[in-house]
Amino acid sequence: MTENRLDQAGEAALYRALRRFWHPVLWADALGDRPVAATLLDEPIVLVRLDGEVRAFKDLCVHRGTALSLGWVEDDHLVCAYHGWTYDPDGVCTRIPSSHGTNIPRRARITPYLARERFGRRMLIAYFMTDQAYAVSITRWAGEPTDDARPETIERRCSYFLGAGLTLWTAWQASTVAGALLGNAVPDSVPLGFAVPLVFLVLLVPTLSKLHAVVAAAVGGAATVIALELGVGPLSVMIGAIAGVLAGALVDSDDPVVRAAHR
Ligand code: FES
Repeated sequence: MTENRLDQAGEAALYRALRRFWHPVLWADALGDRPVAATLLDEPIVLVRLDGEVRAFKDLCVHRGTALSLGWVEDDHLVCAYHGWTYDPDGVCTRIPSSHGTNIPRRARITPYLARERFGRRMLIAYFMTDQAYAVSITRWAGEPTDDARPETIERRCSYFLGAGLTLWTAWQASTVAGALLGNAVPDSVPLGFAVPLVFLVLLVPTLSKLHAVVAAAVGGAATVIALELGVGPLSVMIGAIAGVLAGALVDSDDPVVRAAHR
């Protein structure tokens, strides 16, 4: 073991010098929806995800010095657990419950540090980023609230996206291996060209939750096939799209909720 030859002043000088560099403090996966305490160069800091970004502050509320890592996140703000002072992503106090929103002193702000998330989960998410995983996830996030009462947090969104991505990745790997092993056994007469469009067609399924969407998809598909059979050629897709949009709009305008809103 190497002896530490630095005295207290020397150690403080070393820490001062090291403050100019980046230091790893936490695995990205360990930072969920709650603030997390860490110590860097002998200084307590709090790490938290606000506005989708990792933020780091001195772990000290400017009110009475409570550790902010004991608090929680609310509407992308960090809330102190003691008297509820609330700080925005830049560390500025935006709410003091006892003063009912007024008289927030200009100096009521916590010390921010530079922070960034490297690799880890971002790399994993980037690797699984496919058209299909993105489309499935965005459809879910933009959809109506489900019976599930739990809030749609970043953690839950990441887990959902990774679940979709991993499922697609597994199917892709398995079908690639199957194709390599069995491809030669498939006769040329078997049409496989439909496989790629099928992958994208499946993305339509989650959007077919309303009557007008189902009607638009059915009419659009049927019109395309009929136009193709009549020899219209590539324009069939355009005809199908127009027919689907018109049919969906017609049914949508007949929806009692929409009619009530238009009155
Ligand atoms: S100590 Fe944080 S709000 Fe009072």
